Amino acid sequence: MQSLPDQAQESIVNELFVPTLLKELGFQFNEINPQYNTGKGFVDKAARKTIGDDIFIHTKSNPYLLVELKGRNINLSSDSASYRDTVTQLNNYLLAPNCHAAQWGIITNSCHIQLFRKHGKVIFPATKCISLNKENIDKVITLIRRKLKKPAKALTIAVYNNKGGVGKTTTTVNIAGILTYLGKKVLAIDFDPNQQDLTHSLGLPLNNDSVFKALTERDTTLQNAIHPYVFKSGTIVLKFDVVTADLSLTEQPDHTLSSKISVRNLYQKLELLKQEYDYILIDSPPNWKLFSKLSLYAADVVLIPTKHNNLFSLENAATAIKKFIPEVQSAKPDGSPVALPIFFNGEKITPPKLKVAQNAIDNIINIAANTVKDKFDLLPYFYPEYTRSKHEKDPRHIHQIPSYANIADATFLQIPAVYKDKIANDYYKHLVKEYFLQ
Ligand SMILES: Nc1ncnc2c1ncn2[C@@H]1O[C@H](COP(=O)(O)OP(=O)(O)OP(=O)(O)O)[C@@H](O)[C@H]1O
Ligand SMILES: [Mg+2]
Repeated sequence: MQSLPDQAQESIVNELFVPTLLKELGFQFNEINPQYNTGKGFVDKAARKTIGDDIFIHTKSNPYLLVELKGRNINLSSDSASYRDTVTQLNNYLLAPNCHAAQWGIITNSCHIQLFRKHGKVIFPATKCISLNKENIDKVITLIRRKLKKPAKALTIAVYNNKGGVGKTTTTVNIAGILTYLGKKVLAIDFDPNQQDLTHSLGLPLNNDSVFKALTERDTTLQNAIHPYVFKSGTIVLKFDVVTADLSLTEQPDHTLSSKISVRNLYQKLELLKQEYDYILIDSPPNWKLFSKLSLYAADVVLIPTKHNNLFSLENAATAIKKFIPEVQSAKPDGSPVALPIFFNGEKITPPKLKVAQNAIDNIINIAANTVKDKFDLLPYFYPEYTRSKHEKDPRHIHQIPSYANIADATFLQIPAVYKDKIANDYYKHLVKEYFLQ
């Protein structure tokens, strides 16, 4: 680092910095491919440890880590336009056809470095964008090496909207159901203890104080709070685990709970469980108080249901994206969670109604983009296709789960709609394919 000139071009950084970086991260010469063909352009470096006689430099398949490199003349501090462009570039490579196996991405120009994690289709930060210097470089590299060595198996998803009744609980139950149906190991958490809707909609017993104890006692895990939900039909048996709502969390006033429970506690208690499950889903209450804050802090990503005909659900989604989520990101060392693009849940959408919703969204996006003090680009969160390519057929496409009576009725039967009904099964299969599965 010390030998690099201030304005070193990419080729110099490539020559003097990257070999040492990759070596320190644990990769040998024959485990690194320069200019790897992702199928959608060439990434500067791809790396993977040798598996038996599968040597990456020979087979050139299934990269584990991608590195997008810049020169020092390109500013990679997180508020710069070139930073955002570089992140977009890395994301495109990570999602490209020859990188399905990739789990990690790094951007660096030797002055800044940031690690990203990929889980299925989802990409989220695993560190903040760190400014490197000779004092912190050893610590930063150790941190990245440790993360690369032991990725969490699970993607943790908070389902949240400050607005009530938009389908948070219904979404959580049915995503848990469909991911299980597709062979994934799933844990769902009812983190709305006052309503307990998720627990009741599956007909499971409430917890007395197991969640409270896990959140307040150092050596108590969430294990005792987990109740399996089992669906049987003929020879089919489907099972996912649920941390049900805890009664003792409703018995104490918020300020008493806040003094006993830190915002990090759920995150900490999920650490071990993240090696056991493929997906952890957290149903959150419709407010921005203790449980929502713990839920978002514990999450890698936030899934935000909205209703196209409810302006407040759209405005609340924008508030979560502009304000609440960044608040949590700055409190967390790894810079997560990130918001996934919103989707419309329920209520029939006719073309004129869709137009009204789009006008409302355009307005919300414009206001955020033109706020003098805190400009915010909401476009990727409302119209992700538009950001991916300006030439998409339907750049304002927003994913939809239509209103469907059998989805609502399933609550009474205490069975996820996806297990009772082919159409509901298809709706949620599309949703998890659009958002999560590669
Ligand atoms: N796609 C859908 N089709 C039909 N009914 C739906 C659909 N999604 C949700 N509902 C119904 O809408 C109501 C509200 O849904 P849900 O309880 O999931 O919302 P919520 O956001 O969790 O509410 P709260 O903010 O109170 O926690 C429920 O009666 C549910 O059955
Ligand atoms: Mg709910």
